[in-house]
Amino acid sequence: MESRLFQDCLEEAKEKLGEDVQPTCLRCHAPSVAFTRDLVLEKKVSWEGVTCDFCHSVNQVDARKPDQSYQLVVGSTKFGPLKDATPQGHGVAFSKAHTDSLLCAGCHEYRNSNGLLVLSSFSEWQQSSYAADRSSCQGCHMAAVPAARVVDPKVLRVKDATVNLHQMPGGHSIEQLNKAVDVRVANRRQGDQLLVTAIVRNKGAGHMVPTGSPLRKLVVDLEVHTEDGRKLRAERTYERAVVDAKGSLLTKEHAVLVNGARVASDNRLKPKEERVENFTFDVARSLSARIVTRLWYYYSPQAVRETEKKLSFQIMASIAEKESK
Ligand code: HEC
Ligand code: HEC
Ligand code: HEC
Ligand code: HEC
Repeated sequence: MESRLFQDCLEEAKEKLGEDVQPTCLRCHAPSVAFTRDLVLEKKVSWEGVTCDFCHSVNQVDARKPDQSYQLVVGSTKFGPLKDATPQGHGVAFSKAHTDSLLCAGCHEYRNSNGLLVLSSFSEWQQSSYAADRSSCQGCHMAAVPAARVVDPKVLRVKDATVNLHQMPGGHSIEQLNKAVDVRVANRRQGDQLLVTAIVRNKGAGHMVPTGSPLRKLVVDLEVHTEDGRKLRAERTYERAVVDAKGSLLTKEHAVLVNGARVASDNRLKPKEERVENFTFDVARSLSARIVTRLWYYYSPQAVRETEKKLSFQIMASIAEKESK
């Protein structure tokens, strides 16, 4: 809620689509507003965004409507995964929902009024083998660690307990990106052409890569530096392109969300998919070359600073030896 990027996009959304759009955006970015009705954002809690109290007031989720599944019970009892917790500040009740991926679906699955499934991380996961193996969103995004490492000793009750970190690392975490994707590169010569094969793999994401906002992109970029000083380039982009009802490509967060009508193309990497990409460069076989391969993750094109727009998270070099006749 406090992010500059979100605030800029919210402003633009209101300019282009009218003030009425605000509740739609706040539903997921400041969900407590739906309960407090603080649409003018006067209360401090509204600015806390996705708060503790929102998630821990959910007492049931409706599996039939994953995109509007939350049933809240707001009060002094908080719902969570612990069966025997006895906190002093508030009551607790066990909620099975908190250990299930459905808990995330209400915000990570969204069908707009045109019927387009704009956010689909949940259904991508549902269709993957991770769902069949009961490997949940929480398992990958809320890693369990020994409680003694993170909990204040004054409240630590069970010494050998584990707790779930709440960092929710995603595409903004280099570590998480490295868990998600890798690339292997091989080359061979064919006359005066250098053939490079890159095998790009979604090895560790429980959904498509990229997932979430249709403005995210994964790019594999190759640079060939030849012995005689030339630099050649090629790249492949993995993305889901969304267009409006007239077929125009949408490149803004509010536009894909509200006006998106159809997916024009989608070549994202499915869970566990390996994609073989072939590239050809004109390099005489008498010359050696150095191949530099980079993986990039593109965030929102609306980010202000270049470093917030994209991140290079893997880089590797290989050599194409020269061939004597
Ligand atoms: C996006 C939703 C979400 C938000 C926001 C959130 N939690 Fe949680 N919390 C969960 C889920 C889901 C679990 C259970 C994870 C599991 O068991 O797999 C959990 C577990 C817990 C637990 C039980 C111990 C554990 O780690 O399993 C405590 C205590 C807790 N949360 C406190 C908090 C506090 C305090 C905040 C705010 C600083 C917070 N939560 C914010 C979803 C959330
Ligand atoms: C109340 C709505 C809400 C719920 C519930 C929720 N999220 Fe999110 N989540 C968001 C929003 C909004 C963002 C985007 C924040 C931003 O980038 O400004 C987000 C971002 C993320 C990201 C991306 C972080 C990054 O690097 O960009 C991950 C991963 C994530 N959520 C995982 C989860 C998981 C796992 C759960 C369930 C345990 C969950 N979320 C539940 C609203 C929610
Ligand atoms: C097997 C592990 C795994 C599971 C299961 C999993 N994720 Fe992820 N997720 C990842 C990895 C790794 C990334 C980082 C790569 C990326 O951003 O695509 C990621 C990225 C994300 C992002 C960030 C996308 C962005 O815009 O940068 C979101 C949001 C997200 N996951 C939500 C979810 C939700 C919701 C679920 C459950 C329905 C889930 N994930 C299940 C591993 C997992
Ligand atoms: C159904 C829930 C939902 C609604 C409604 C929603 N968002 Fe989001 N939004 C998300 C999630 C989840 C993400 C995390 C990105 C991802 O999954 O890739 C996100 C990401 C974003 C981002 C990118 C943040 C970043 O750090 O890269 C912007 C900007 C944004 N939303 C703006 C808006 C605006 C403006 C609206 C209203 C027109 C809106 N959102 C409505 C759930 C929602």
